[in-house]
Amino acid sequence: VVDISKLYGQTGVFTYDPGFTSTASCESSITYIDGDEGVLLYRGYPIEQLAEHGDFLETCYLLLYGELPNKAQKADFDYRVSRHTMVHEQMARFFQGFRRDAHPMAVMTGCVGALSAFYHDSTDISDPTQRMIASMRLVAKMPTLAAMAYKYNIGQPFVYPKNELDYTANFLHMCYAVPCEEYKVNPVLARALDKIFILHADHEQNASTSTVRLAGSSGANPFACIAAGIACLWGPAHGGANEAALKMLSEIGTPDRIPQYIAKAKDKNDPFRLMGFGHRVYKNYDPRAKIMQKTCHEVLRELGIKDDPLLETAVELERIALHDDYFIEKKLYPNIDFYSGITLKAMGFPVSMFTVLFALARTVGWIAQWKEMIEDPGQRIGRPRQLYIGAERRDFVPITER
Ligand code: ACO
Repeated sequence: VVDISKLYGQTGVFTYDPGFTSTASCESSITYIDGDEGVLLYRGYPIEQLAEHGDFLETCYLLLYGELPNKAQKADFDYRVSRHTMVHEQMARFFQGFRRDAHPMAVMTGCVGALSAFYHDSTDISDPTQRMIASMRLVAKMPTLAAMAYKYNIGQPFVYPKNELDYTANFLHMCYAVPCEEYKVNPVLARALDKIFILHADHEQNASTSTVRLAGSSGANPFACIAAGIACLWGPAHGGANEAALKMLSEIGTPDRIPQYIAKAKDKNDPFRLMGFGHRVYKNYDPRAKIMQKTCHEVLRELGIKDDPLLETAVELERIALHDDYFIEKKLYPNIDFYSGITLKAMGFPVSMFTVLFALARTVGWIAQWKEMIEDPGQRIGRPRQLYIGAERRDFVPITER
């Protein structure tokens, strides 16, 4: 707490909390994290159980409605999502405005924001029905847009959704089917990716979710808010970390080079950090990282990838770091991003798509949080304070006299 009356031009008392390490910005009943115990619950359900027994759309229903669906509710929800998978044909032309080598996250930020220009009805945030339709549209169209961003990047024609496939299989189909060849979705890979989506679906008030809430607090439409979330997620300290972790593992190359990277990470004068290690909230193991590690092994086994140098390096790096005093003392454990990069790479996704997949999965969390905020009667525009440390009042000096 800072007494700002002693500072120039300011009155009163407020908390100064850079990085919001101890300031709650909202009440929420969506996701619970116990960072010390390594617990993550969506609406009370442990992430381990959801990943093991549920599917991604069931998780979406849970996050949006607060309860798991029964059979009829699930069938209806799946059907309604599948009805919204197409995007307007003009959206396909909108893609042509991007350079082909544009980062797919740049493309996603633009395209998702542009949805507000296509669905004017869903921009009426005062109508609960429209809020739910906007939610469905976003959940349903994200895989289509993500696959389009991928296809555009590699110069292949867009593949339309095939709605008889389930959500994640449909996404794989849109990414990997080509007009001249038969493509059959591998069910083991589809299930693994579905699990990855469940793990990423929400994580309470992280940077991108807080961005979505802050943008939404002004009454901005949901597509604009999700675009803001995507832009924030792109940063390497957040969603870009799996991309950065994989790059780091490739750079390390072989397990014998690990000690020099550990030494770099510990060196106070070197800005290098072990990517995929550490978390603002988890000061014990990230529960998602455990599931991710298992999923990674399942995918590599299914694809017949043995002796993968990246995986060998990752396992050894984890082993060394977990026994190193520096990492123990600072409670730095592998986070979800540590193994997700290896898994997604094995599935055939280029590194630039990793954060896009994260955004695809996180969209439902963002939108559930946005809806919760809009529906909160105590909701006010987000307006953080600042501690002004600049110059005191002074008079303008003409340029000739400076
Ligand atoms: N490697 C080496 N040292 C680290 C690392 C790391 N990955 N992470 C934190 N530290 C050290 C810091 O240097 C700092 O040391 P100090 O106390 O001597 O100054 C101490 O641990 C605390 O670090 P902070 O940056 O203050 O912790 P914060 O909670 O702000 O940061 C973060 C968390 C951003 C995740 C950080 O651990 C990091 O940069 N990790 C690497 C990037 C990463 O993997 N991000 C993914 C996060 S998960 C997600 O977004 C899904």
